[in-house]
Amino acid sequence: MPKQQAVIIPIDAAHPDQTRISKLGAAILAGALVAFPTETVYGLGADATNADAVAAIFTAKERPNTDPLIVHIADISQLSLVTGHTLAELPENVAKLVTRFWPGPLTLVLPRGPAIPNGVTAGLTTVGVRLPAHPIARALIAAAGVPIAAPSANRFGHTSPTTAAHVFADLGDRIPWIIDGGPSQVGIESTILDMTVTPPRLLRPGGVLLEEIEAALGMPVAYQERSVTSAAATAQAPGLLLSHYAPRARLLVFEGADIAATWERAVSEVAALAVRGERVGVLSLDTLAGRFRTAGAIAIAPLGTGDNTASVAHQLFAGLRALDDAEVSTIVCGAFDPMGLGLAIRDRLWRAAGGVVISVDAPAASDEAREA
Ligand code: TXA
Ligand code: MG
Repeated sequence: MPKQQAVIIPIDAAHPDQTRISKLGAAILAGALVAFPTETVYGLGADATNADAVAAIFTAKERPNTDPLIVHIADISQLSLVTGHTLAELPENVAKLVTRFWPGPLTLVLPRGPAIPNGVTAGLTTVGVRLPAHPIARALIAAAGVPIAAPSANRFGHTSPTTAAHVFADLGDRIPWIIDGGPSQVGIESTILDMTVTPPRLLRPGGVLLEEIEAALGMPVAYQERSVTSAAATAQAPGLLLSHYAPRARLLVFEGADIAATWERAVSEVAALAVRGERVGVLSLDTLAGRFRTAGAIAIAPLGTGDNTASVAHQLFAGLRALDDAEVSTIVCGAFDPMGLGLAIRDRLWRAAGGVVISVDAPAASDEAREA
C-alpha cells in the first residue's frame, strides 16, 4: 500500500477561513487525525469521544498507551462533557484558575467524565483539560463540535513541533491533514497542574508561570523538579519521561548557580570538542554567538537574550531541530535562571539531555556528567 502523504492546509490565524475550518472539523468528527497549531506547540488532534480515533493518535506517534492525552475544549461549556461536572460544581480553586488563565497555556487535571474513553487517559480516573488561546485551535474544536484530544504532534520522544514543517518532518507519512497557521508563539508546552490533590501539584512547568498560579490561588503549589532520581514523581504524570524532547545529537547542558559561569564553560567545551574534530552546534544566547563561532561551532541556534525568557522558549525546540538538521554530533547549552518561564526552559533542556546535566558549581566534578 502506498504511504499516506499529509496535505498541508494553510490557514491565516488572524482571519481563519471558515470553509477550510469546517471541512477539517468534519474530518475530526469522522474520525480522522488533524494536526493543528496551538499557542504552545502543534497538536495532533482526534475526536476525544471516539476511542478508535484516539487509538490512531498513539499509532501515528508510536506513543505508549500508558501516556495520557490532554483534551482541548473550545469554551467552558464543554468542561462538563469532559469532566462530568460544570465549572460551578468543581472546586472553587478550579474556577479561580479558569477565570484567570483560560484561554491559555494551562492544562488542569480534573476528574474524568463518562464521555471520555479510557484510551484518552491511559485508564486514569482523571483527565487533563485545556482551553487553548490559539484562534485556529478554538475554531477547529468548535467546528468539530466535540472536544479534541491532542498530544504534541511529534514522533514519541522527539522534540515538540512549533511549525507545520516540523509536524510534516515527523508525521507527514502517517496522517492526512496538517494545518499550517505559522509558528507557535509560546514555543513550549502548557503548564500542567493537578487539581485533584491538595495542595495542587505542578506536573509540568510551562507557558503559565508557577508564580502566577500561586498568586491566583493564594497558596503554594507542590512541585518536585524532575530528575533521574525522582521515579515517584514520574509516576504522577506517566508521560513525563526524561527521554522526552530529545534531539538526535548528544546534548550537553551546563548547570550551576552562577549562570554566566555555565555559559563560559559552554564556550570552552565547544573549543575543546571542535579541536577534536567534532561537529558542534550551540543553543546560544545572542550575545555569545560570535564567541561560540570563534570557538569552532559549525551551527548556532539563536535563543535571544537570557533575560528575555519568552524569546528563549519561543526558539528552543525550533533550535534543537535546526541543529539536528545541520547534522551536528553534539549540541552545547548553558543554564537559565529557573524563575518565571526559566523553570519550564530548564525542565525541557534537562529532559532533552535525558536528565543528565553537567554541574559547573563543583570544579573537581565538572568533567563528570552527574545526575540532575
Ligand atoms: O501545550 C500542550 O500541552 C500541548 C498542546 C498540543 O496542547 N500538548 C501536549 O501534549 O504537550 P503531550 O501529550 O505532549 O503532553 C501531555 C502530558 C502527558 O505526557 C501526560 O504526562 C500529561 O500531559 N497528562 C495528561 N493527562 C494527564 C492526567 N490525567 N494526569 C496526569 N498527567 C496527565
Ligand atoms: Mg509531547
